[in-house]
Amino acid sequence: MKLTVNVDHFATIREARRSNEPEPVLAALLAEQAGAEGVVCHIRSDRRHIKERDLKLFREAVKTKLNIEMAATEEMKRIALEIQPDVVSLVPERPEELTTEGGLDVIANEKHLGPHIKELQKAGIKVSIFVDPDLKQIETCRKLGVNLIEINTGKYADLKPGEERDKALDEIKKAAGHGHKLGLEVHAGHGLDYKNVLPVAAIPEITEFSIGFCIVARSAIVGIERAVKEMVALIEKY
Ligand code: PXP
Repeated sequence: MKLTVNVDHFATIREARRSNEPEPVLAALLAEQAGAEGVVCHIRSDRRHIKERDLKLFREAVKTKLNIEMAATEEMKRIALEIQPDVVSLVPERPEELTTEGGLDVIANEKHLGPHIKELQKAGIKVSIFVDPDLKQIETCRKLGVNLIEINTGKYADLKPGEERDKALDEIKKAAGHGHKLGLEVHAGHGLDYKNVLPVAAIPEITEFSIGFCIVARSAIVGIERAVKEMVALIEKY
């Protein structure tokens, strides 16, 4: 199981004081040195944390893989085409949300997404879709011509251990199996932490995690190197 680390909230700390530190690119490089196999960030339309200058620095410095999460808008497409990340992850975005609230509704947005995805792919960018564990949504991702999806683990992560959470985990298992059968590379993320990650890591079709908040939070206490190494140690046997 590969770990990619979302470094958005290093920029959140910086923006809390409109300062110039901590430097997210430095966090990204330390995360890579500690075993992360990719760096993820989300450029939001309000630029509340990650900004264009961060993307340029990431593109210069990241040696593993740069994955930029963004909404499927014209503004964001222009940014992706300029920065040329290795992966663009398409996510829905509601301006007041604290964090991404669900997967992208590819069924409702199929017409718009088709040409948007093609344009990114034509520029050599791999496109991922952040999607709820819903078989119909996943089938539509395949139809749209992507070969990578990230299953939203947010519902599972919000639940306490018990029957409801087991049901949410089962949905993720079924979704991962279905995606894999359709020939998609299957990743997962959202809300995963040091306690809830193992049952998801044990799903064989999921090959990569995108984890942010809990690693940044733990970094504030023990440093990023240890925070990343602890997560890698938890998931690497899968
Ligand atoms: N995947 C996607 C698509 C996200 O939007 C986020 C949050 O930015 C994550 C994964 C990581 O979630 P968390 O910060 O809760 O680990």
